Amino acid sequence: MTDATGELQARPNIRFRQVGRPLTRIDAPGKVTGRTPYAGDYVMPGMLHMRVVRADVASARLVRLDVSRARALEGVACVLTAEDLPDRTASTDIPGQTGQKRLDTDQQILVRERVRYFGEPLALIAAETRDVADHAMELVEAELESIPGVYDPLEAMKPGAPVVTEPDNIVAERRIRKGDIEAGFAEADVVVENTWRTPFQEHAFLEPEVGLAWMDENEVVNIRVSTQVIEHFRPIADAIGVPHNKVRIRGALVGGGFGGKEDLTVEVYLALLAKRTGRPVRLEYTREDSFVGHGKRHPFILTYRTGVTSDGRITALDVRMVADSGAYVFLSPYVLLYALVAAPGPYRVDNLNVFARAVATNNMFTSAFRGFGALQACAAYEQQMDEVAKVLGMDRMEFRRRNFLRTGEPMSTGFVPPSAIWTDQCAERAWAALGEATPCEGPIRVGRGIACYQQSYGRLTFLHDTSEAWVGVEMDGTVVVRSGVTDIGAGQISALGQIAVEVLGVTLDNVVVYNSDSAVTPLAGTTTATRALYMTGNAVKQAAEALRARLVERAAKQFGVEPDAVDMGDNAVFVVDNPDKSLSMVDLVRICGAEGIHRSELSMFRAPFTDVLDPETGQGQAHPDYAYGAHAVEVSVDTDTGEVEVLKSVAAHDVGQCINPAAVEGQIQGGAQNGQGYALSEEMLYDEGRLTTPSFSEYLMPTAMDMPKVECIILESRSGVGPYGAKGIGEPAMTPVAPAIANAVADAIGVRVFEMPITPERVVKALKRQDKPDGTRTRA
Ligand code: MOS
Repeated sequence: MTDATGELQARPNIRFRQVGRPLTRIDAPGKVTGRTPYAGDYVMPGMLHMRVVRADVASARLVRLDVSRARALEGVACVLTAEDLPDRTASTDIPGQTGQKRLDTDQQILVRERVRYFGEPLALIAAETRDVADHAMELVEAELESIPGVYDPLEAMKPGAPVVTEPDNIVAERRIRKGDIEAGFAEADVVVENTWRTPFQEHAFLEPEVGLAWMDENEVVNIRVSTQVIEHFRPIADAIGVPHNKVRIRGALVGGGFGGKEDLTVEVYLALLAKRTGRPVRLEYTREDSFVGHGKRHPFILTYRTGVTSDGRITALDVRMVADSGAYVFLSPYVLLYALVAAPGPYRVDNLNVFARAVATNNMFTSAFRGFGALQACAAYEQQMDEVAKVLGMDRMEFRRRNFLRTGEPMSTGFVPPSAIWTDQCAERAWAALGEATPCEGPIRVGRGIACYQQSYGRLTFLHDTSEAWVGVEMDGTVVVRSGVTDIGAGQISALGQIAVEVLGVTLDNVVVYNSDSAVTPLAGTTTATRALYMTGNAVKQAAEALRARLVERAAKQFGVEPDAVDMGDNAVFVVDNPDKSLSMVDLVRICGAEGIHRSELSMFRAPFTDVLDPETGQGQAHPDYAYGAHAVEVSVDTDTGEVEVLKSVAAHDVGQCINPAAVEGQIQGGAQNGQGYALSEEMLYDEGRLTTPSFSEYLMPTAMDMPKVECIILESRSGVGPYGAKGIGEPAMTPVAPAIANAVADAIGVRVFEMPITPERVVKALKRQDKPDGTRTRA
């Protein structure tokens, strides 16, 4: 890890005791030794096993569904179809803290009349054993009559296209209109236009969707489930028709989320069958279920038209985006908004037009995935930066330097991010760290690429996001943090613990974090949108500080000094100038206990609350703040086979302040892997909406064998809006990786592949058109 020093330092160093140190995460020992129970490890006596019966075509009318033979099979406890359910829908939109539902995302729970995507659930089975449930699936007879579908968003927008969502398949439409685009292009010496396509992506968490549900003595449906969002208890209750206080979600440490467990997955099915049978039920998706059962990353088609002066100043940018929403709305309008806001990237563009649409098709529905639209925009704007530099005959880094958005300048929406913008420092550091070029010969070509980014952290500010935390000290001086936040593997709860013990002056082995129980832990919001550290970290810090103030006041009285003369550290409280005057934490807590001084604190942190962006101009504040950084790579390309190998991978991010540098590095390493797969090898192939690659033998994620050592350069501006000036790194770590690789491939072979993943086939195809110009370009 590299600490930023000297002029890079926006704020002076704070002397931390716990924060900023690569401590062993509190979730680590259990995971390393295999003791950690995940949601799928929980079982109960008398438990039933579930399976979901799915449609095997993407667009059809359900003519007949006969489950009588399945029901009659010995050992089958219950089979449910849409006919057995009241006509309710499930919504993925989490009502905001205001209680408002903001998106019309309702979908049928089970197919009633029409199948809209391959794998849409037709029936639910619960049986005494998994084998019986599997057998019963084969006895379900579904007659599906194909109806014409549409599988390309451009086709779906044409008049007369099959209608997937009323009236015209347009799920969302958003715009930015800023400055004077005509004048901007008139001022340009060169105009460059290119179109990119980005692919579907599967989250590919190791732990598939899984849960266990049971009814308790209060007729509450309890669900132990692998999820990013325990607040789903509300839409689950609505979907099964019970009051909100009759559903309780108990999370578990999550074996990977990446946005794929941000929507409802198995919860409603589990709740329906637990309620219907009165018995515990367990549902674990097979890998194939998982591939067809949760929304993918939106494929985008992005057209960028950039006007520049010959000295490399961007005078105008016109962007058109089309996102494939698949068969349901899910989070498409939000994903589209992120792409819209991110469209110009971390560059100053005063004359900007963006027009973005999300379009329904009969493809797999698409929803949240790490980067959430902003990543797709980055894939295009960073490749476009290289292409424009090439046309200008200018060094790629120099072209970027001349256009970087600087601290205090307004971004695409006119909003001035409140934190430092250190894209330039990150880019210089990452680029320099590539070092000497790797030599190559024969058919092998070596190339380098860089990509910079802007990625929000924290949810959309018009959602009025809040997060609660409850921090207390036990009678023996140990600390308890309670927070609803889910830990999806990034070290969320450990970071909360680290913040609490920093404030309260104890060591990390003295804290326990109870989390993700919708009934008993204060609701902390979703673990999505790179918000957990920002929102819940701030809530924990606030609660701990309020508690500390009370404890310190009592101690000061004991010492006969003013409270600001007292500090807490090493499990004790003491007078700063006279450390002989001290009390152990235990003794202080006992005094407070005896006197009825409250030893816990519940606190709510509120993000900035704004209105929605202006619908005509897209101007306003969209997010609390943004993270900036860069990723640089060196690749080799075999021009005979088209195979790409990543030789060097360097990430440089301004994370604001590391709470735990080891956890930050973990996110960066994972982001590099996730982005490399997206760029090169992960491909979901669909045939008329039918997924033909539903396994890890066909869907190729990079393994440790395919990855170079990832070098992490961590800068700390201490300027973020998170605790101690932290920003977020969960999503940002991935955002610039794929375009950096794409730029390196183009650098190596001198020709651009306009569609990801950049498979050997596509590389070879691109090489064959080497004598032709790539993309269209015109002199203004
Ligand atoms: Mo998400 S892509 O987990 O906001």
